[in-house]
Amino acid sequence: MRKTPSILAVFTIIALSACASKPRTPATTPEAPPSGQIPQAPEMKGPFQMPRLDYSFFALEPHFDARTMQIHYEKHHAGYAKNLNEAVVGGPLAGLSLEDLMREVSRHPAVIRNHGGGYYNHNLFWKNLTPDGRGFPCRKLAIAGALDAAFGSFEKFREAFSAAAASRFGSGWAWLILDGEGKLVITTTANQDNPLMDVVETRGTPLLALDVWEHAYYLHYQNRRADYVAAFFRVIDWEEVERRYQAATKARE
Ligand SMILES: [Fe+2]
Repeated sequence: MRKTPSILAVFTIIALSACASKPRTPATTPEAPPSGQIPQAPEMKGPFQMPRLDYSFFALEPHFDARTMQIHYEKHHAGYAKNLNEAVVGGPLAGLSLEDLMREVSRHPAVIRNHGGGYYNHNLFWKNLTPDGRGFPCRKLAIAGALDAAFGSFEKFREAFSAAAASRFGSGWAWLILDGEGKLVITTTANQDNPLMDVVETRGTPLLALDVWEHAYYLHYQNRRADYVAAFFRVIDWEEVERRYQAATKARE
């Protein structure tokens, strides 16, 4: 007499065959654009548009991985931009520049501090990065001599900036700024605050910004913030820092 397979056996066979045929999740992200393509800037409804990047999401690898870059730009930064626009469109703050919003942020609703700060800070962060980073500023740049004068040497600046970035507790930013007396200063801020804001202790014109929120590095570096900070120094655009340094110096004259 022929045996009927038990229900358990049938389910086991179905389950095994389902596992076998299930496609694996690819290691790379299907939505990421191909290497070499500069991503489209997400469109915003309001005056504060997303900046177009000068490089693809892949361009900063292996220092900053493409997946982190994509989420950081398209989700985090675009989220700040969207919320900032929603906070100003049709309201009493419409028409104010981003810098003006930052300078008197204590007078505005918290959304301006959090999301306006997030929008401003990330705009600067992307501009500070380049796939062609040398790891140090070229000697012909004025900022190179200014860093030597202020901190003793570029190496000493790098160490001090890295230590500040490492010691910022929780989420925040590390900055190189030109302060009100024309001095180069390293400072840090919490959350999405920045040195333009009237709520921070050390104010000045931001020249270099490093995002130390975990969303900036956790996928690739997990808890190793120091490794991420070291990687940041491989992709700094010192020509851009120079431009900001020259403009900030000129504005004081
Ligand atoms: Fe960020």
